Amino acid sequence: MIIGCPKEIKPQEFRVGMTPNAAQEAANHGHDVLIQSGAGAGAGFEDEAYVTAGARVIETAEEIFATADMIVKVKEPQAGERKMLRDGQLLFTYLHLAPDPDQTHDLIASGATCIAYETVTDDRGGLPLLAPMSEVAGRLAPQVGAWTLQKANGGRGVLMGGVPGVGPARVVVIGGGVVGTHAAKIAAGMGADVTVLDRSLPRLRYLDDVFGGTFKTSYASAGNTIELAREADMIIGAVLIPGAAAPKLISRAQLAELKPGAALVDVAIDQGGCFETSKATTHQDPVYNVDGIMHYCVANMPGAVARTSTIALGNATMPFMLALADKGWRQACTDDPHLMNGLNVHGGQLTYYAVGKALGIDVISPSVAIKN
Ligand SMILES: NC(=O)c1ccc[n+]([C@@H]2O[C@H](COP(=O)([O-])OP(=O)(O)OC[C@H]3O[C@@H](n4cnc5c(N)ncnc54)[C@H](O)[C@@H]3O)[C@@H](O)[C@H]2O)c1
Repeated sequence: MIIGCPKEIKPQEFRVGMTPNAAQEAANHGHDVLIQSGAGAGAGFEDEAYVTAGARVIETAEEIFATADMIVKVKEPQAGERKMLRDGQLLFTYLHLAPDPDQTHDLIASGATCIAYETVTDDRGGLPLLAPMSEVAGRLAPQVGAWTLQKANGGRGVLMGGVPGVGPARVVVIGGGVVGTHAAKIAAGMGADVTVLDRSLPRLRYLDDVFGGTFKTSYASAGNTIELAREADMIIGAVLIPGAAAPKLISRAQLAELKPGAALVDVAIDQGGCFETSKATTHQDPVYNVDGIMHYCVANMPGAVARTSTIALGNATMPFMLALADKGWRQACTDDPHLMNGLNVHGGQLTYYAVGKALGIDVISPSVAIKN
């Protein structure tokens, strides 16, 4: 198969769909890998590394889209890229179609087969191609929160680990899933006093079994949440209700009860945020102040650490990418129902029910689409 990896063109996106290691694995499997010149530069991968891996460097995205059987990317194709997709071509990338009718209609019109990273599943009910980015965002949250807590950055001027004779920062993590667990581990590693809140008792039991002693757990009732928030130097929002907007867990009025200069890091901002006063910010201008409380609400946190994020994403996508290339998408999806769950669009039709429901578009089942 000819596998093409264009340079990402969405503003502030520095990741790349294939690492040199992924290109090498694909080449070792007998595939022809085309990488756009400069595609890996933002993540620290120069063209030469891809050449050494056995890939061919191509100047333009146009050439890659015209030649490749499968396009591997990170972000959803932008309008110009969508015009270059064609009937019978395979697209493997994040799509997030439900809130994006323009993209959905363009992908349907293209005739391409589109497999979305975010809807591929695993045996444990998880989303294996979303998890690495949650791990990155979770581990980054205490790091950016610690910066926000510094006095010059508007924060309380509290050091995460304290020093001998001075207590550590108190960190409250709301939501103990992938983001929350990784955030809590890093915050505890920095020496902070950490409590994780969740509404799932099985999850709290798991966290207590595995991490008891490293951080504390608490049930996320409204009363417990505000009680712990009042004492916190940093609050990390990491809740998710799949398919729904994030619940608002701290209201504007409650900001007055928090410590002045406390840092709110709302990782759930990509689902609308879990603090009433959250609004999405960018890496250029990540933090703002509401009523003396510092808010960090960057919606694409993994972009700040593009190299780590690219490698982490590549590790997760590579087996699926290789299965698609080795077997063709029909056989690969037939063999792996979790990959089949990634199928969102095929041959001019939508194949993912939740997207169809959100956008009012007719859907056919993937098992029917695969026969077309
Ligand atoms: N900003 C970014 O760059 C970025 C990057 C990755 C993920 N995210 C977002 O981070 C959020 C968390 O993702 P995740 O992968 O950890 O999800 P997850 O499903 O692994 O964990 C979510 C947890 O929230 C808990 N929860 C749900 N409602 C709650 C409530 N009211 N109070 C307390 N806990 C509650 C659930 O029980 C679950 O344990 C999502 O919104 C995700 O989209 C953002």
